[in-house]
Amino acid sequence: MDLKAYLADRAALVDAAMDAYLPEAKERPSTIHEAMRYAIFAGGKRLRPVLCLAAAEACGGETADALAPACAVELMHTYSLVHDDLPAMDDDDLRRGRPTCHKVYGEGMAVLCGDALLTEAFLILSQAPVTQRYGTRHYITELAETGGSRKLIGGQVMDLEGEGKKLTKKELIRIHESKTAALLTASLRLGAMTANATPAKLGALTSFGYNLGLAFQVIDDILDVTQSTEVLGKTAGKDQAVEKATYPAIIGLAASRKEAAKLTKAAMDSLKPLGKKAKRLEEIAAYLLKREY
Ligand code: IPE
Ligand code: IPE
Ligand code: MG
Ligand code: MG
Ligand code: MG
Repeated sequence: MDLKAYLADRAALVDAAMDAYLPEAKERPSTIHEAMRYAIFAGGKRLRPVLCLAAAEACGGETADALAPACAVELMHTYSLVHDDLPAMDDDDLRRGRPTCHKVYGEGMAVLCGDALLTEAFLILSQAPVTQRYGTRHYITELAETGGSRKLIGGQVMDLEGEGKKLTKKELIRIHESKTAALLTASLRLGAMTANATPAKLGALTSFGYNLGLAFQVIDDILDVTQSTEVLGKTAGKDQAVEKATYPAIIGLAASRKEAAKLTKAAMDSLKPLGKKAKRLEEIAAYLLKREY
């Protein structure tokens, strides 16, 4: 299967699984279930769940065994976007090519929608099959640490507090590794855990996720400056407008592009211990460096 077909195939698997896991839209109170489905099924690249499945495959596991964590990481990601877009945070009107959740359902409902998606993520994760090395406790710990105030939320805090400030590159890396790289890393690790991966393989994927995740956010920052709203499906040029701490703002566009390439190379190098089975992950890293949205 070529990469494009692979990505579409895995995204379809994840969408079908999320459809089965999530409460139906008509289930009462229906507003919240409609809002959750609106946010989830608006599209999106499904990168985190695809990484989760690809990591399981790279460690010799079954795709089906990694579906629960794949759904869980996409729910956590989508919750973070719903809240990230709120007027009190980035104040965005457009997400995944559609009006943001709070634009359609109101701010109160969007807060609750995020809360519900986050909670549902753990419910789904608790159903993942256990292996010899890893049990439910390991899965829950992994996702809880990632979503907490030391990682994803901490990164969002530093991102908000960084607005209008001239941060150092070191401070910027802290934001990006927390708000973005942490969840990409956890997605890979959770997939690998369902494949009973050895600690050495888990370590390789952790390093891959860290570098890929940093590259991913650098590219997100670059695209915010260089791409159109239509292609992005979210409002372009927002970062500059509120003086966000981004790579282009701190080191410039050309250096940001070099940095993204360097980080992608480092990510690929991390895959060596996984051998030929990691080919797909390597392809995904190359594809993400060239992405246009
Ligand atoms: C956007 O993530 C937020 C960042 C962490 C940069 P994605 O670019 O993966 O968004 P979707 O899921 O495809 O909409
Ligand atoms: C979002 O970063 C990171 C999280 C949601 C955790 P951004 O604020 O740059 O994401 P976009 O550009 O709105 O998608
Ligand atoms: Mg933000
Ligand atoms: Mg934002
Ligand atoms: Mg952005």
